[in-house]
Amino acid sequence: MLDDMDKLVSLCKRRGFIFPSSEIYGGLNGFWDYGPLGVELKRNIKDAWWRDNVRMRDDMVGLDCSIIMNPRVWEASGHVGGFSDPMVDCRASKERYRADQIFVFAYVYPAVNHKGEPTEAWLAGLGGTPEEAAEHVEKRAAKLAKRFGQPVGAPSIIPYLKLEPNDRDKVVGPATEDRGTLTEPRAFNLMFKTFVGALESESNVAYLRPETAQGIFANFKNVVDTGRVKLPFGIAQVGKSFRNEINPRNFTFRSREFEQMEIEFFCRPDQAQEWYDYWRKARFQWYVDLGLKSDRLRLRDHDPDELAFYSTATADIEYAFPFGVSELEGIAHRGDYDLTQHMKFSGKDLTYFDEERKERFTPHVVEPSAGADRATLAFLCEAYAEDEVGGESRTVMRFHPRLAPVKAAVFPLVKRDGMPETAEAIYRDLKRRHNVFYDEKGAIGRRYRRQDEAGTPFCLTVDSQTALDGTVTIRDRDSCRQWRIPKADACQALDNLLDGLPIPGDA
Ligand code: GAP
Repeated sequence: MLDDMDKLVSLCKRRGFIFPSSEIYGGLNGFWDYGPLGVELKRNIKDAWWRDNVRMRDDMVGLDCSIIMNPRVWEASGHVGGFSDPMVDCRASKERYRADQIFVFAYVYPAVNHKGEPTEAWLAGLGGTPEEAAEHVEKRAAKLAKRFGQPVGAPSIIPYLKLEPNDRDKVVGPATEDRGTLTEPRAFNLMFKTFVGALESESNVAYLRPETAQGIFANFKNVVDTGRVKLPFGIAQVGKSFRNEINPRNFTFRSREFEQMEIEFFCRPDQAQEWYDYWRKARFQWYVDLGLKSDRLRLRDHDPDELAFYSTATADIEYAFPFGVSELEGIAHRGDYDLTQHMKFSGKDLTYFDEERKERFTPHVVEPSAGADRATLAFLCEAYAEDEVGGESRTVMRFHPRLAPVKAAVFPLVKRDGMPETAEAIYRDLKRRHNVFYDEKGAIGRRYRRQDEAGTPFCLTVDSQTALDGTVTIRDRDSCRQWRIPKADACQALDNLLDGLPIPGDA
C-alpha cells in the first residue's frame, strides 16, 4: 500500500500519468495535465461511470452543457452570493490560507506557569489536517515543556474558525514563529470570472462553471419536454469545472480545474429518502467493485450542523489517502431547493405533472456528485505496490482490468527468426478491440517491469516455440504466472481475462 505521496507523484511523472501543467514555463499552481497513460486511465474511469450509471440503466439520461452559462444561473444557485471559502493572510510570511484548513493546537498549563502566573491557554497554528496537526503536537509540546521547565497539559486540536476572535491573536501562523500575524478570515468567492463579448464591463461578466450540476437543473424542462423520461429518473453529466481554490494541494486532489461526474436524480417527494438510501449504497459499491478496498473507503454521514440548510441528509464517500482521509464524492438529498430557486429566478415553470396520479409538484432531487480526478488519484494510490519477483524488486500498478490504461502488451522474445512479425500481427489483431502496446526493445524482464509500472494486466510473448506449435506465453501482472495459449485464441483470451471469465488453455 502506498504510504508516501512523493513516490506516486514521481511515478506519475516518470511514466506519463500526470504532469504539472505548462511545466516548461514553471507550471501553474492547481493545474495538471494527464499524459498518455493518465488520459487512458481517467477516460476508463469516466467511461466505467457512464456505462454503469447511464447506459446500463433505464432511468438515466445524459447531458453535455456549456461551461459558461447565463450568469443568472449562478445567482439562482447561490454561487454568486455564497460560494466562498474563508481566507486568511499571514502578514509576516505573506502566505494565504483557507481558514477552515488551519488547525490549532492548544494546551493548558497546569495551575501555574513557570513564573507562578495563573493557567493560560497557549495556541499554535499548524495549517494542516487534524492528522498532521496531531503529529506536530508531541514535538511542539516537548519543546515548550523544555522552554518553561515543566510538563504541559495534554494538548488538543481546535479548528481555527472555532476560536474566539481574541484567541485568534495568539495563534502562531503556520509559516512563522510569531503570534498574531494572521488576518481575520474573510470570504473569497471561488468562481473564475471572465467577460463574454468585446466589452470588459460589469454587464458582460460571466463565470466558468464551478460545478456541472446547475446545467442539469437549467435543462430539466428541456429533458422532460422531449418526452423520453418519467419520474423517477436521473440526468447525468461529466465535464470540467473550475474553482479558484485558495490553497490547491495534495497533487491533483484539490485543483483549480477538474472534472466532475454528477447525477441529479429526480423523484416524488415521498420517495426521496428511499432513493437517497439507494444512491448512498450504490455509489459506495461502485468504487469497491472497481478495486478500492472497503477498509480504506468510508461512507460518512454528515452531522446535522454540517448540512446545507435545504438538505435533509448528505453522506461523503471518503478514501484514506496517504495525506489523510478525504472526500471522493458527496451524495446529497437536496429536496426541491434547486428547481424552486431556478423557478424563482427564471420565471419558468419547472414543476412536473404525474400523468398517472394526475398531480403536479416540484420533484425532489438526490445528487451523487463525484470528482473524476479524485477518483483517478484514489485508484492510483490503491494500485501502487512494491513487491519482489524472483529476487528482484518491482513497482507494480495493480489497476482493475477495466481501468488499466493499457490492457495488454505484445512482445517478440528476440528481434529475429520471424518473432517480431508474428508479434506485430497479434498486436494489430488485439488493437482492433483494446488499447494494447507493442515493444521489442530491451531484455524481456525489463519489458515486463515497464508494463508492471504502467499497470498492464497481461503480456503476450512470442518465442521460439511459437513457430513450432503456434502458441504464445501469456503473463499475469499480479501473480507473474505464465502459461501458453494458441496464438489464434489471443483475442478471445484477452476478452475473457478482462471480463474475469475462464480462458482457453488455462489449466
Ligand atoms: N454539485 C455538488 C458539488 O459540486 P462538491 O462537494 O463541491 O459538490 C463534488 O464537489 C465533487 O467534486 C467532490 O466530491 C470532489 O470529488 C470534486 N471536487 C470538488 N472540488 C474539487 C477540486 N478543487 N479539485 C478536484 N476535485 C474537486
